[in-house]
Amino acid sequence: MENRAQWGTRAGFILAAVGSAIGLGNIWRFPAVAYENGGGAFFIPYLFALLTAGIPLLVMEFTIGHKYRGSAPLSFFRMNRKVEWLGWWAVLVSFVISTYYAVIIAWAMSFSIFSFNLSWGSDTEAFLFNDYLNLTVNPGETGSLVPGVFIPLILVWAITLGVLFKGVKKGIEVANKIFIPTLVVLFLIIVIRAITLPGAAQGLETFFAPNFDAIMDSSVWVAAYGQIFFSLSIAFAIMITYSSYLPKKSDITNNAFITGFSNSSFELLAGIGVFAALGFMASQLDVPVQEVVTGGVGLAFVVFPQIINEFPALNGLFGFLFFLSLVLAGLSSLISISETYIAGLTEKFGISRNAAVGIGGGFAALISILFATQGGLFFLDAADYFINQFGVAFVGLVEVVVIAWFLRNLNDFQAHANGISDLHLGGWWKVCLGLITPIVLGYMMFDLFKTNLLGEFDTETGNYEGYSDTFILFGGWSVAAFAIVVGFLMTLKRWDSKLIDESEKEVG
Ligand code: ALA
Repeated sequence: MENRAQWGTRAGFILAAVGSAIGLGNIWRFPAVAYENGGGAFFIPYLFALLTAGIPLLVMEFTIGHKYRGSAPLSFFRMNRKVEWLGWWAVLVSFVISTYYAVIIAWAMSFSIFSFNLSWGSDTEAFLFNDYLNLTVNPGETGSLVPGVFIPLILVWAITLGVLFKGVKKGIEVANKIFIPTLVVLFLIIVIRAITLPGAAQGLETFFAPNFDAIMDSSVWVAAYGQIFFSLSIAFAIMITYSSYLPKKSDITNNAFITGFSNSSFELLAGIGVFAALGFMASQLDVPVQEVVTGGVGLAFVVFPQIINEFPALNGLFGFLFFLSLVLAGLSSLISISETYIAGLTEKFGISRNAAVGIGGGFAALISILFATQGGLFFLDAADYFINQFGVAFVGLVEVVVIAWFLRNLNDFQAHANGISDLHLGGWWKVCLGLITPIVLGYMMFDLFKTNLLGEFDTETGNYEGYSDTFILFGGWSVAAFAIVVGFLMTLKRWDSKLIDESEKEVG
């Protein structure tokens, strides 16, 4: 009866989970978030969020996948028929993320090629926005397709779907066994080079200089929780899907600790590398490091090309290595993000894996073309903000509240994890999930709704990034709502009775 795909080895599972966690979020998001939220002092809320929410939730999601042995929707259905929608909601959030995440990887692919002859020239900002993205339209307008983005985008989807076609063991596991060690080696080379550049020490000093006043500010704690969620791929349906492919005899808790600490170590490494490089650039320009710090698109695609321009030697090679690292980190995450809907579609509609990859992946690839148009960056920015805040973080809150407070499953899950793991969970685990995480996330969501609905942003329109009300409605709110509405619609179709019977035999 058990013909469900399985990981070949424990290391294969851990590498896949780490590969999912380490992504664009670690390299371009973490350094700037840490810097903006107190620098060295940010590590206090960051570690607190990792230990009270990140790892406990990872243990919970690994337990759910292992215990119910299904995609996120099927696992939630087997947990309690009334909460299947929660699994689909998370899957649809991942679906949306995959459509634009692929585009950022496509940019990184282009930039890895541009590195060879530093084609971005000296005005890297003008190069990104005018020459490369051709961003000459207003937010909400698409303009025409940008071939320089569209062509690598096809390649990104070809690789991702190619890996997914091959299945769990021969596809996902093998890809991660190649991508992750390569990524770590490349990244170590970059970081070692960065910290030996002149000015690196000032960069690191700026990064680590603790601003203890900052940790009294609640927004810093909220930022720490947000970073941990995105970075650990929690509430994306990913970790439930991946752990559903674990053999029956598998460790849960230790694997979660290994995944959590590996991801944070990489994040710290990225912070060190990025700030050492920023210190170097500031010293070349003779300005304070604070003046050159930025995050996101600006950091990776504007500031990094500038840093590469200034490198004393082998500029092209280091540029190539940096952008290749982004590509590898991004691809291993994109594979995991897409696997969530492939697993869900296969089980719900009783179709083959290949058909699900073709339909689910094909549909995501089609939508991603929107982000490869001239106005793509605006759509991407709005979708990313809304789906993270009102998708990932919101799913996370609802997930802990439903499981800890309504279904009261934590005792049961603790017994399941303890029954098979080397490390035993104590009462702290339930306190984190039943009390601390819902309170912090609840406050965070309240604050987010308030800021967004009341237009409290510090911009002309009061909206996020100063976008118009219409654009925020269509490019932001409706994207977040899409995940919830389609999630509910998916529950209307009944599961194959074999899957339901199996659940009764398996978990009783
Ligand atoms: N966890 C993935 C990242 O950090 C999604 O990018």
